[in-house]
Amino acid sequence: MTSLQSTKINILRTFYVLAALFCINFVYSAEGGPCKDYGECDEFKYSLNDIESLQRGVSTYINYCYGCHSLQYSRWGRVAEDLQIPEEIFFENLVFDKSIKPGDLMIGAMPKDSENWFGVTPPDLTLVSRYKGDDWIYSYLRAYYEDSSKQYGVNNLVYPGTAMPNVLLSLQGNQRLVCKNIPILAKNGGQKRDQSGNPITKEKCGFLEVEEGTGKLSKEEFDSLIYDLTNFLVYVGEPIKATRERIGWYVVFYFLIFTALSSLLYREYHKDYN
Ligand code: HEC
Repeated sequence: MTSLQSTKINILRTFYVLAALFCINFVYSAEGGPCKDYGECDEFKYSLNDIESLQRGVSTYINYCYGCHSLQYSRWGRVAEDLQIPEEIFFENLVFDKSIKPGDLMIGAMPKDSENWFGVTPPDLTLVSRYKGDDWIYSYLRAYYEDSSKQYGVNNLVYPGTAMPNVLLSLQGNQRLVCKNIPILAKNGGQKRDQSGNPITKEKCGFLEVEEGTGKLSKEEFDSLIYDLTNFLVYVGEPIKATRERIGWYVVFYFLIFTALSSLLYREYHKDYN
């Protein structure tokens, strides 16, 4: 075979591989993003050094979620220690079963037959931030809306048809899907206007809006409650994460200094060859 032929074959091969990758990509993106009907998930930036946020998060979790969702790979004492909550205060306020000891795993409070209640057993959430992603959780918990066709009267944009009731409804209030008139954009990015200069609008549906006065918290307060809760789930998914990231910076720093020192040493040795 001439070298020209083999180059041709190689180009063809590369083309096939690229075409296959393109198709795979297309199939995946055609399924819709991870946040489904919600569109793009809202971005979530954890802050594991914000101990107060984590403390508020664990308190919300125990009060509103632990009844259904265990955290079976964490221990009570470890959480109290990592979140800097004195053990007596932690146990008095957050541990309702007095027979529990600090070394016990957080195996949940759900009876075994709970599957029959929801059709699905509420999953353990220790690692949920690892397999679903924090963006997904943060969006999911804020995307419930009223839907009378569903078993609990609610549905979710991020997880359509979820078997989980909207447990934070009293805090958030009644969220609905509404339609809004939004301005149409012209090609140059400006708003389209009619002859008398009024913006031309188009009705678009699928916006989430909380019915005013139905929830205990304002939108900002509710978002910040979900922020803390998601932050806590990120912590619980990998308790060592904050430490790991801090040590990572030390290592990078160490390598910088080490590289500088070794290059000086290299120059010193090289003097002998001149
Ligand atoms: C009344 C019981 C109940 C309560 C309370 C509850 N959940 Fe759920 N949750 C469920 C059920 C059931 C599912 C499974 C939904 C499904 O797969 O359709 C679920 C699913 C989830 C999922 C998705 C997990 C996955 O692997 O798909 C997350 C995240 C979640 N819940 C978070 C929470 C948080 C945070 C709270 C507290 C604010 C909470 N849940 C309170 C019953 C509950």
